[in-house]
Amino acid sequence: MPDNKETLTQTDLMLSMGFVGGEWIPADDGKMLDVTDPASGKIIGRVPDMGAAETQRAIVAAEAALPAWRALAAKERSAVLKRWHALVMDHQEVLAAIMTAEQGKPLAEARGEIAYGASFIEWFAEEAKRVYGDTIPAPRADQRIIVQKHPVGVCGLIIPWNFPSALFHRKVAAALAAGCTVVLKPSEFTPFCAIALAELGRRAGVPAGVLNVVTGMPTGIGRAMMESSAVRKISFTGSTRVGKLLLEQASQTVKKMSLELGGNAPLIVFDDADVKTAVAACMNSKFRNAGQTCVCANRIFVQDGIYDAFSRALTEAVEKLRVGPGDQSDVTIGPLINDAAVAKVERHIADALAKGATVVTGGQRHALGGRYFTPTILRDATAEMELAHDETFGPVAPLFRFKTEAEAIAKANDTQYGLAAYVFTRDIDRMFRLTEALETGMIGVNEGLISNEVAPFGGIKESGLGREGSYHGIEEYLETKYLMISVSLCA
Ligand code: SIN
Repeated sequence: MPDNKETLTQTDLMLSMGFVGGEWIPADDGKMLDVTDPASGKIIGRVPDMGAAETQRAIVAAEAALPAWRALAAKERSAVLKRWHALVMDHQEVLAAIMTAEQGKPLAEARGEIAYGASFIEWFAEEAKRVYGDTIPAPRADQRIIVQKHPVGVCGLIIPWNFPSALFHRKVAAALAAGCTVVLKPSEFTPFCAIALAELGRRAGVPAGVLNVVTGMPTGIGRAMMESSAVRKISFTGSTRVGKLLLEQASQTVKKMSLELGGNAPLIVFDDADVKTAVAACMNSKFRNAGQTCVCANRIFVQDGIYDAFSRALTEAVEKLRVGPGDQSDVTIGPLINDAAVAKVERHIADALAKGATVVTGGQRHALGGRYFTPTILRDATAEMELAHDETFGPVAPLFRFKTEAEAIAKANDTQYGLAAYVFTRDIDRMFRLTEALETGMIGVNEGLISNEVAPFGGIKESGLGREGSYHGIEEYLETKYLMISVSLCA
């Protein structure tokens, strides 16, 4: 296995610049932002602290590149995306090393995310060729109706730090496949993944201006995107609070919006579930990326009859997790992204304990210090606790007890969020009742990993608008244009 630090010093993909109009450029005023390794707190590099002016130029570049890019045959755009896919997979190791260095997740997870992110490029390279319209029987015999799909135009894409590669390509590949051009803002915590992916895109032949990456703090960049009437679409993944603000701002220029916002996923284990399956799935759903996933199980509802057995088996699995720096080969849980994330986990645990929960395992910062937190299981969680209403975004599994199916459904739906849910049962009738009653956009049945490129990812209620991935994903970057043709006039 290559040494991670050596890989990072040798790579030519960690550029300390933003990407505008096909050029790698600094911030206008030369200001830089530090990017730190959450494992050590050490600075791993610096990126330009750009703002509204650079974003505005990126929008102009994206506007200028739009006519030629959207005029290409879908097959030509597809060919560029396929070359990009191949380059990303050829660079999987170094891209994973960059991700672990700035995001903290274990290398094995980072490698998996690079492949998962690349799967969106491959998928949308194919979907580009399947942007079909309609012909519709017209009301009169001398009329013909044709429905065409057109790219929306310039898109502003804002991606978070928890999946800096997968969410880059879940948005960018769909936009480019549709014929749109893009201004992307990566998280200020994880800009190097986006920079490296953009450089590989350049090498793959993405034309100048089609993809622009503006690094920096959110306010100036976001404002420039939201105020621009040239930006016709925003796709944002992040908190519900910010999503609501963007929605409000988008109303001024009536932009098309995709929002992938907060979750509060229930994971429901019935007495008839297979405990081994439920525990393995719960481990995946809850502890992937140290619990910093918007589809993470946040509330684990366990039926009375299986509560103790499930709690014991989950504890056994959780105690096998190995906390440490993501570049160590046996580590399965890395650090949390920043100090605020650790403080939130601590606050949720303290509140739960004050309201009657008990710690089964973990419950405190890890002996390694810094941003490490010990994977935690809490018993006797209740709806009164903060963690029942707010996603913890950390390695804490609170176990709630329930007696009846109706009670489980009511408790699971008792949230303004509606992203993901998980159900564990061997009863097929119950499975259908649950999947119909649960108010979420995605449901895993006897399965804890639901994210992939072929399925529509997204939420309902305050978890968002629109879908990413699947054939639905490209629709978000398309407008519908309908033609009414009077045939007699053409004769
Ligand atoms: C997320 O957006 O946090 C979920 C990422 C994924 O599972 O694809």
